[in-house]
Amino acid sequence: MLYKIETYGCQMNVHESEKIAGILEYLGYKETDDIKNSDIIVFNTCCIRDNAEKKVLGNIGAVKKLKREKKELIVCVVGCMTQQFGKAEELKKKYPFINIILGTSNLYRLKEHVESIREGRKKTIIDIETNEKPKVIEGESIYRTSGANAWVNIMYGCNNFCTYCIVPYVRGRERSRAFNDIISEVRELVANGYKEITLLGQNVNSYGHDLDDERATFAKLLQAVADIDGDFRIRFMTSHPKDLTDDVIDVIARNEKICNNIHLPIQSGSNKILRLMNRHYTREYYLDLVEKIKRKIPSVGITTDIMVGFPYEEEEDFNDTLDLVKKARYSSAFTFIYSVRRGTKAAEMPQVDEDVKSERIQKLIKVQNEITRELSREYENKIERILVEDVNPKDGSMLMGRTDSGRLVNFHGDKAEIGTFVNVKISRSQSATLFGEVVK
Ligand code: SAH
Ligand code: SF4
Ligand code: F3S
Repeated sequence: MLYKIETYGCQMNVHESEKIAGILEYLGYKETDDIKNSDIIVFNTCCIRDNAEKKVLGNIGAVKKLKREKKELIVCVVGCMTQQFGKAEELKKKYPFINIILGTSNLYRLKEHVESIREGRKKTIIDIETNEKPKVIEGESIYRTSGANAWVNIMYGCNNFCTYCIVPYVRGRERSRAFNDIISEVRELVANGYKEITLLGQNVNSYGHDLDDERATFAKLLQAVADIDGDFRIRFMTSHPKDLTDDVIDVIARNEKICNNIHLPIQSGSNKILRLMNRHYTREYYLDLVEKIKRKIPSVGITTDIMVGFPYEEEEDFNDTLDLVKKARYSSAFTFIYSVRRGTKAAEMPQVDEDVKSERIQKLIKVQNEITRELSREYENKIERILVEDVNPKDGSMLMGRTDSGRLVNFHGDKAEIGTFVNVKISRSQSATLFGEVVK
């Protein structure tokens, strides 16, 4: 019996697919690359933007034919998209061949649902989490697929309600995992040889606000993870600028093990737009924060998310974004065109023309690419400690890995080095990618 999981969306989703795989492996399924051979297909969906949804829907539609040829094929749709208001029923109507529709925080129930379908007790199951603060589930089996890196959830959900964003609606309110549960998980991962631990949350800096435990702050958690014995590094994401406190910056600066890499989404460089987005910071505050981080952690790589075409965005606002990007000098940026999400506040605001949006994103990408190129050049001739992640998928003769600051590096090396740390001297750079040679 074979399974195939199709994952869309953020790291959180990628990690949840590892939990889904854990359940399916437990049920006796093995992974396949070929959807045509699978006995169970799981679509782990994302709905952050319209194009994310369209992609998933297109692929679900394509399964109809497979299901016609193989009646016993089990089709599951899980994750963020299913939690949107009225979406589960809509999906069921449009794709009646789906067997299981499951939400975001009740994924662990996939096991019993697959069993019900397999035993013919039910043909269709819709199980959407309606509680806004569901219990944090521990002890899930996780089938990890991310090589030397292991993802670790530290919290679920989001309380921020940025006016463009669907996440709080589909993932509920913030729930933190208990401090000790996180520490024991990381200890076990390190003991099992994982070399990179990435702590995950929509807003990691508000970790512990909902717990009655004085140790449970993000700074203390980071320190406790760094205090675990072993040669490994720590990453985390995402940090909301309004909540990134000095104690966190200091912990990063103090600890070798914590990567000098902060993902700090700005979204817009215009104070007017930031206010309309409900982001709770100004461009001045943000630039001061970036300044402070760079002062305390000189080799830091700061990355960001930026949106163009948010309602009411005028040329002047967009120029503020360009100006901020030039001042912050990000090592890289994820850039997005604002996409209307039904049910969010911004969906009710007047929308910017599509062609204005695409013009702006092109300009933004150009400015950021130039900065990335300039910063790449600064790495040349430097020796960087790299965690070897894999063979380069585009060139099998090369390995790839990341610098402490999060930059991708390609270099010649032995496959046996995957999962170990090597020192690489950077010889040249090509836009965002660095090339180098291993030095002993
Ligand atoms: N929790 C994280 C990331 C959330 S989603 C954070 O707060 O930063 C990742 C990114 O998608 C966001 O940072 C934002 O830039 C983008 N995004 C979210 N909603 C969007 C929308 N409706 N249209 C376009 N981009 C969006
Ligand atoms: Fe969405 Fe804002 Fe929460 Fe991030 S902080 S998940 S952008 S609502
Ligand atoms: Fe998408 Fe859900 Fe992540 S909407 S970006 S998969 S939290």
